[in-house]
Amino acid sequence: MLKIGPSIMCADFFRLKEQIQELDKYGADYYHVDIMDGHFVPGFTLGKEFVEQLAKNTKTPLDVHLMSDNPFEHMDHFLDLGITTLTIHVEATPDILKCIQKIKSKGVRVGVALNPGTPLSLLDEILDDVDQILIMTISPGSAAQPMIKSCLQKAARLVQNLREHQLHNVEVMIDGGVKAHNIHEVSECGIHSAVIGSGVFHSEHPGLMLEKIKNSLLP
Ligand code: DX5
Ligand code: ZN
Repeated sequence: MLKIGPSIMCADFFRLKEQIQELDKYGADYYHVDIMDGHFVPGFTLGKEFVEQLAKNTKTPLDVHLMSDNPFEHMDHFLDLGITTLTIHVEATPDILKCIQKIKSKGVRVGVALNPGTPLSLLDEILDDVDQILIMTISPGSAAQPMIKSCLQKAARLVQNLREHQLHNVEVMIDGGVKAHNIHEVSECGIHSAVIGSGVFHSEHPGLMLEKIKNSLLP
């Protein structure tokens, strides 16, 4: 079944502990944590102290999405905090393989992300080296934008490519614009996991919204 990861940047930070406990109870598969540097993307968001605190307050896996230039330097802040996956952008570094090796050396799962305009061919040389590929279905930098449908098709093509190459352990995730109303379309693409920010946190009861979305995916 499609895994669902609430995106923490959309949480109500004054009620964060309560919201995390609720989402843990209703079956969040992981938490997606967006780190923005104000340069690779225009916005600024969370930092290492926040991730450290979050890791101490939930047993649910943490999936850190580093939207930052120079990820090779900046990833050091996050690799020892008890996170499960670190995702970096292929557009952000001239040496993606060096970054992948550094993440692996710390025993953290490796994710690579592609912006909407970045072709899948940029992954050709590294498909064997990653655990997860994040296809952005919005322009990175802010939440609550409508999904770019052609990116969903790109994710579906990637799933197909991976099958053809017998790479069954590489997970495909999408990030951006996923909501209760399009979750079936998302699930039908054959991807493994979807991030949901505003689609969960901007509802009156995030836990109940997560439960509703997960129930609608049951066979
Ligand atoms: C945006 C972030 C997303 C964001 C998604 O750059 O990468 O993770 O939180 O939010 P929604 O689900 O509202 O598009
Ligand atoms: Zn994200």
